[in-house]
Amino acid sequence: MIAANSEALTISGLDCFYGEVQVLYGLDLVLNKGEVLCLFGRNGAGKTTTL
Ligand SMILES: Nc1ncnc2c1ncn2[C@@H]1O[C@H](COP(=O)(O)OP(=O)(O)OP(=O)(O)O)[C@@H](O)[C@H]1O
Ligand SMILES: [Mg+2]
Repeated sequence: MIAANSEALTISGLDCFYGEVQVLYGLDLVLNKGEVLCLFGRNGAGKTTTL
C-alpha cells in the first residue's frame, strides 16, 4: 500500500525560455509515489519542454 501525500516530484513556479521566448509560465506539478501523470495539450503547448 502506498501512503497518501507521498510526493516523488514537486515542481513549483517553473518558467522556461528558449532564448528570449518564454514557453512555460509558472508551472506547478506534484507527482505522488505510485501515480501516473499524463500531460495533455495542443501541439507546442510545452509538454516535451516540461519533461
Ligand atoms: N529547441 C527549441 N528552440 C526553440 N523553441 C523551441 C524548442 N523546442 C521547443 N520550442 C518551442 O517551445 C514551445 C513548446 O514546445 P514543446 O515541444 O515543449 O511542445 P509540445 O507540447 O511537446 O508539442 P508537441 O505536441 O508538438 O510535441 C513551442 O512553441 C516550440 O516551438
Ligand atoms: Mg512534444
